Amino acid sequence: MFHRKFIILLITIVLLMISACQNLSNTTNKTNVNTTQSQTASNEIPNRKWWKEAVVYQIYPRSFKDTNGDGVGDLKGITEKLDYIKSLGIDVVWLNPIFSSPNDDMGYDISDYQNIMKEFGTMEDFDVMLKGFKDRKIKVVLDLVANHSSDEHKWFQEAKKSRDNPYRNYYHWWNEEDGKPPKRVSFFDPEGDAWQYEPNTKSYYLHYFSDKQPDLNWENLKLRQEMYSMMKFWFDKGVDGFRMDVIHFISKDLPFKELPAEFNGDFGKYYGSGPKRHEYVQEMYREVLSKYDVMTLGEAGVGMQDALDYVAEERKELNMIYHYEGVSLGYSPKGKKIVDPNGWKLTDFKDVYTRWDKNFAEKGWNTVYLGNHDQPRMVTRWGNDSDEFREVSSKMLTTFLLTQRATPYYYQGDELGMSNIKFDKIEDYKDIETINWYKQVKAEGGDLREFLDSHKISARDNGRTPIQWDNTANGGFSTGTPWLKVNSNYEKLNANAQDKDENSPLNYFRKLTALRKAEPTLVYGKYTLIDKDNENTYAYIRELNGKKLLILLNFKATESFVKTEFDLSKARVLLGNYKDFSTDGKLKPYQAVILELSN
Ligand code: GLC
Ligand code: CA
Repeated sequence: MFHRKFIILLITIVLLMISACQNLSNTTNKTNVNTTQSQTASNEIPNRKWWKEAVVYQIYPRSFKDTNGDGVGDLKGITEKLDYIKSLGIDVVWLNPIFSSPNDDMGYDISDYQNIMKEFGTMEDFDVMLKGFKDRKIKVVLDLVANHSSDEHKWFQEAKKSRDNPYRNYYHWWNEEDGKPPKRVSFFDPEGDAWQYEPNTKSYYLHYFSDKQPDLNWENLKLRQEMYSMMKFWFDKGVDGFRMDVIHFISKDLPFKELPAEFNGDFGKYYGSGPKRHEYVQEMYREVLSKYDVMTLGEAGVGMQDALDYVAEERKELNMIYHYEGVSLGYSPKGKKIVDPNGWKLTDFKDVYTRWDKNFAEKGWNTVYLGNHDQPRMVTRWGNDSDEFREVSSKMLTTFLLTQRATPYYYQGDELGMSNIKFDKIEDYKDIETINWYKQVKAEGGDLREFLDSHKISARDNGRTPIQWDNTANGGFSTGTPWLKVNSNYEKLNANAQDKDENSPLNYFRKLTALRKAEPTLVYGKYTLIDKDNENTYAYIRELNGKKLLILLNFKATESFVKTEFDLSKARVLLGNYKDFSTDGKLKPYQAVILELSN
């Protein structure tokens, strides 16, 4: 008896000692981080999270690096470039869909959620890539496409066999005998109709995107459970989060009533955000997300209040949302991404980012991006892609992205200042969005020249051209024929050349990620817009625990002045895209500078 008690006592003492040692080493680690990071005491920052401090780098695998000469980027290509990715100083990689897919919408039409698209490789390739990222302390976030599957998914193949098939209820149907289904619009349907007739079961199915992307029925608990177990499968493999595709669409406005006469295609206002969207996301949180230390980003074209509802901590839903308000500036009300000849005003741009910053000032957390696989190249759209200003304006935009109080989502190739390819002919495009809109304009007898000219600025394929690695054939992306043309400027504009050039956009991006890492004021500091009505320059203060940084950005190709109340001659330059800086507030074309103000 005594003997047993003694052993238990001994074990307890040993355990206590181990835990004391661990605590000690934790504190020393933390102290190291604090002293090397900055004088700002990290413990004075409430609510710190790794995903708030991260810079996310988005990889579009199809266009990243092809290793087998079939013209399509693959997972082995990502593995080959791990050291390059690490060298950027980023923390998280988000991969566009890598799952089995017939690629009607480039992977956003998934036919098997737990397998790898054959063009991209195998599950073994995935495991090797994931380990490569883990070894380099980079987290990996995948794309969750939960609103729709591919029509080639087993569930849909079954569902269309008969009306009483066990998978029928995984999708939304409208029986022929009930008359024509009420109007719902589809983004990628050539006629814009979201109902597709299915002859075998004499009924229509719903597809907000192409007819090869039938919408999943989240009303069905079985479907939701399949989704949750699929998410767990990836988390258990070690994946660190999900970017959730059009998450606001998962709840539908059942029972699909007729829309009022005023409806003019504005789905967002009428039925885009279904009544049960938050209920489902909260269930997903309870069932899956709460069990892992992962980050979640919802893609949702929603207003500020709804965005806040998705991310306010006490609601237990998602970490972050990204909205479309900023990237929608500058399009004409005609739709189809026709560019407005009057362009966009910098005051509107500043207003959008300032309002969204304020929205999350107390609760939740903001995001910022200018480029992604659905956007043209940021330097063409928001900067200036002429030979004279391409590099300097792309560095200016990078400065904007990495100095906002938000997690930056930075798109592959933007670190090189890659620009739009500007296709002349519709035949060069591969994207279903551009191709189907072109068909619609043609069918309506619309202005095809205006459409093609606009899409040189706005089309998604501009952002999807292959990465330009070096000056060899196809920019070193592939030894075969690339699935989408490579921009011919690759001979000058490529990663290899920029790596060697101290002043390149690539090396500027590296300096900025390092600065953001070392300076919590850039992550957590309060944001205040100054010189609000200035149409040329964007200026703001970031402030944390007494430390004040001033960011000055000239968005114009001319010299511009910024008005501030500060004595800039006393400020210290932390980073900028020109060698010198004039302390009277005069900025050179596209000049960007980050200053530390003295107190
Ligand atoms: C999202 C994706 C886009 C895709 C669409 C349908 O907006 O980012 O690429 O086409 O959803 O899945
Ligand atoms: Ca390949």
